[in-house]
Amino acid sequence: MNVTVFGAGYVGLVTGAVLADLGHQVNLIDIDTDKVEKINRGQPPIYEFELQSLLQRVISSHRLKARTEPTAHVSDSEVIFIAVGTPSLDDGAPNLDFVHQAATTIGQHLNPKRSYVIVNKATVPIGSANLVEMWIDDGFVQANGRPTPQGMYTVASNPEFLREGRAIHDTLYPDRIVLGADHPEALNLLANLYRPILDQSFEPPPRLLRPQGVKSVPLVRTDRLSAEMIKYAANAFLSTKISFANEMANICERVGADIHTVMSGIGLDNRIGPQFLNAGVGWGGSCFGKDLSALIYTAWEYGYEPKLLESTRQINDQQRKSMIKRLQDELKTLKGRRIAVWGLAFKPGTDDLRDAPALSIIAELLHLNARVMVYDPVAMDNMRRQYADWDIRYAKEPMDALDGADALVVLTEWEIFRQVSLEDILNRLKTPIIIDGRNVFDPNEARRLLVRYRGIGR
Ligand SMILES: NC(=O)c1ccc[n+]([C@@H]2O[C@H](COP(=O)([O-])OP(=O)(O)OC[C@H]3O[C@@H](n4cnc5c(N)ncnc54)[C@H](O)[C@@H]3O)[C@@H](O)[C@H]2O)c1
Repeated sequence: MNVTVFGAGYVGLVTGAVLADLGHQVNLIDIDTDKVEKINRGQPPIYEFELQSLLQRVISSHRLKARTEPTAHVSDSEVIFIAVGTPSLDDGAPNLDFVHQAATTIGQHLNPKRSYVIVNKATVPIGSANLVEMWIDDGFVQANGRPTPQGMYTVASNPEFLREGRAIHDTLYPDRIVLGADHPEALNLLANLYRPILDQSFEPPPRLLRPQGVKSVPLVRTDRLSAEMIKYAANAFLSTKISFANEMANICERVGADIHTVMSGIGLDNRIGPQFLNAGVGWGGSCFGKDLSALIYTAWEYGYEPKLLESTRQINDQQRKSMIKRLQDELKTLKGRRIAVWGLAFKPGTDDLRDAPALSIIAELLHLNARVMVYDPVAMDNMRRQYADWDIRYAKEPMDALDGADALVVLTEWEIFRQVSLEDILNRLKTPIIIDGRNVFDPNEARRLLVRYRGIGR
């Protein structure tokens, strides 16, 4: 099928590249010239496992082409995805400006003699499919001076659930595909687009093998409002699970229990399950905070006070602040202290810094006049670029960050940090203080070595 994807970010680029690899012809539109040029050179503008080889494959086979200008290819497409960003406004409501712009542009390029399914893949507030229709119609009127012909297009919702760091894996082997539309033909067309994934009939790429037992992917066919709500409910639930684990950790710390054992113990219950129960510095990233805020905002719009969701958010904020408190407990004043920070990205496997706990924690350390030395295996370039005016030092190797430091704070659980021995860390630190925001190290080993070790909930 001919497909156009608006937005070449984490979602749009990965979706476009995977669809192209599955045999579709993909036209990728982004307003960022630099990104478009990189993509067409086969160079991913983001860090994502195996994206480079996938991109090079689909570029060299001419199945994917990135562009800054919507061209005739838009009107030739049967399916048009909107995968642009929907960041939060100050009041928590999502900023739909990019969606508005993309939908208007789509409307301007539709050919009245053809029919289209236009798909919201961006995470948009419940009811946004109607808004997108309005904006597409506006674009069509601007370009053609007459109203959109009846039935020329349908707007569907196809929320995305990929995890950064595993984006291609999750696109090829999703837990489910959710399609929401008011017309069965649109659902059928989209199901056909995803057929190789639904049936798992494609040949897996060499380093992205099919997980054992995955024979097909469940398809949820529903209405648009429910599809939009599924996305928000999923992220609200996942962030609540983590905040729950953190609340338990805070109680564990007080009573002397070990959160790791406690969560393993409850995770064995099939009704609970083991995933997303890791206590730590809290969740971050481009989605959880923004989507939770958007859902809270939606509830407010309807006069409902979503107390559980508000607590989920508050616990997460507290968790970040508690890292500073732990440092202050150990060091008292932080003025002039040298603090080594391991990990900037909001989780391992990505260079994405959006709403990363490291940002608010480092900002507070700087505010308290500490000197900060950081190391992250992939996110330091983004940090240098996006926070050029922050007075922080960058280490070439994890151990270099420790020299002369008064404490080490671990904020991302990169595998390389787990591989470093506590003895080696102690040899480099000025004082043996480790604030382990990701429970990377063994607390018993730390105690044996007389480290002043503060994990989360242990
Ligand atoms: N990143 C994730 O892990 C993830 C997972 C699931 C869902 N989502 C949702 O998917 C959407 C996209 O997220 P993302 O992380 O890919 O965002 P992103 O910021 O990485 O990418 C968005 C891209 O859209 C481009 N853009 C903006 N306006 C445009 C326009 N008018 N025409 C064409 N391109 C335009 C931007 O230049 C940017 O490259 C968001 O709604 C997000 O909530 C993201």
